[in-house]
This record gives sequence, C-alpha cells and structure tokens, in this order.
Amino acid sequence: MSRNFLTISDLSREELFGLLDRADELKALRGSPAHPRPLEGKSIAVVFEKASTRTRLSFQVGIHELGAQPVTLNSKDTQLGRGEPIEDTARMLSRYVHGVVYRTFGHDRLEALAGCSTIPVVNGLSDKFHPVQLLADMMTIRQSFGPALDVARVAWIGDGNNMANSWIVSAGLAGFELVLACPAGYQPDEQVLADARARGAKVRVVGRPEEALEGATVVSTDVWASMGQEDEASERQGAFAGFIVDEASMGRTASGAIFLHCLPAHRGEEVSAAVIDGPQSRVWDEAENRLHTQKALLEWLVV
Ligand code: CP
Ligand code: NVA
Repeated sequence: MSRNFLTISDLSREELFGLLDRADELKALRGSPAHPRPLEGKSIAVVFEKASTRTRLSFQVGIHELGAQPVTLNSKDTQLGRGEPIEDTARMLSRYVHGVVYRTFGHDRLEALAGCSTIPVVNGLSDKFHPVQLLADMMTIRQSFGPALDVARVAWIGDGNNMANSWIVSAGLAGFELVLACPAGYQPDEQVLADARARGAKVRVVGRPEEALEGATVVSTDVWASMGQEDEASERQGAFAGFIVDEASMGRTASGAIFLHCLPAHRGEEVSAAVIDGPQSRVWDEAENRLHTQKALLEWLVV
C-alpha cells in the first residue's frame, strides 16, 4: 500500500521534522544545478473540485522542479464533474500517474480516493483539513523562531474550520501551545480536539480573542466563510464581529510576534490591512513555503 498525506497526523514527529529540514534544504538549492530531480519521468495529477491559486501554482511548479510532469484537472471539465464515482477515478488515476493531489469538499471523498488508489494521495484541502498549508506555516514559524517548534505559542482567531483543525493536529505532533478563540457555534471539530489532546496536545478553546492573544508569538486567522459556505457569509459577518486581527490585537501579543494567514484574505474582515501588510506579517514567506514543503513531501511520498 502506498503512503498518503490526508492529515498532519499521517506523519510521525520525526517525519514531520525531517520534511521541514528537507524543505529548508530544497529552498537553499532552488535554481542551482545541485537541486534534485527525484521524480524524473513521472507524472503527478493535481485535481481541483474547488478554486485555488496557491495550491495550483505551488504544486505545478514544485512537481516540475522535481523533474515530473504535473497534470492539473478541474473537476468540472472532467467526468468526475459529471458524476463519475471517485472510486473509479482513483482506479483510473492509479494506472496513469504516480501520485495525486486532490482538493475537494467532504473529507470522506479524499478517504475514498485514497482507499481505491495504489498511488500516494495528498490532501490539497478538504472541508476538514488543509495539512499542506500547515507544513508551510510550520516552516515559516521555524524561520522566525528556530527549529524547535515547541517554543511557539500560537493564537488562532476566528472560524473553527479546516485550518483550525489542522493547527490542532499540528500542535499535538509538533508540541507547540495553541489557543483558539472562536465565536459560539463556530468551534473546531470535537473529535479532532479529543484526538489531539489524547496525544498530549496543549490546546485550549476560548471565547474571546484577547484570551488567545495574550503572550502569543504567532497569530493566525482565516476567512470567516470558507469555500462552500458562501451563502452563510452575511450571517457569519455578524457572528464574527470583534474577531478581526488588527493592530490592537497584535499589541496584546509577545514582543516579536508574527502574523500568518493561509490566504486569500479579506482585508477589513478577519484581518486589518495594517496587520497583513505590516511589519509582523509573514504571509508572503508563508505562501512561498508552500512550494518548498510540498516538494519535500512529494519527494518523500512518491519516490
Ligand atoms: N492557501 C491556499 O490553499 O490557497 P489557494 O486556495 O489559493 O490554493
Ligand atoms: N478555510 C479556507 C481556506 C482556503 C485556503 C477554505 O476552505 O476556503
């Protein structure tokens, strides 16, 4: 059976740190003749059932730089978009390509794809998890605070969504402290929390942003309405009032704190322009780090 990467906990702690170290090496080697091409002659499919800019670009470019050919499919242009079962898609993909990155809605669709594939499957975002983003986020934290992630104290402000769930799983594996401030009714997945706590994760969920921000070295947030929740956007704007990350929020954090956002961002909603475009923001390094970490991941999974 091939290895998959559907959630951060598909990695051991050693594997996680090994990938982050390798991503640092690949960043340093980028553009040099010494950069490895371990996927020479292979093809990797990148399949989207939702919109994407960063995931599309970073996987396409990264797969190319590893020596393989990216084959990007938008489901609406394929038979998947006309109802072909995901299980049949998995069996067919396994005959053509050497790995598949899949962005979809229900996490069960990723599990079904993985269950019927004989090639590695990577979660390019589901409604439940966005683990490739967390690899980039952890690389970015290490660039500011050094390699030992357990020195970070992360504040998550906003929706208990796929990104929040992924931070929770990462806290359990990497050992950093995580405090999530989520409005009532928008808390993270209970089972994800329980599983992470069973692994020793230092995670708390609080009701007010101030409780999470006090002493934080990393502040992160995300859109209030994720892909697929567009019709809840106005209701969510009311529920999330007071959850903007602005200069006053950053003023509550530890000195030297950084701001992360997976992007795309809505300035004036979940984050002020002054913060995302300000000196504490690391969002462009974070976006770049998608490329390096995913290359390390594919090198490890596919070779
Ligand atoms: N952060 C992220 O996954 O961005 P895209 O939706 O543009 O891929
Ligand atoms: N939570 C967001 C992340 C986008 C990268 C969404 O799922 O739309």
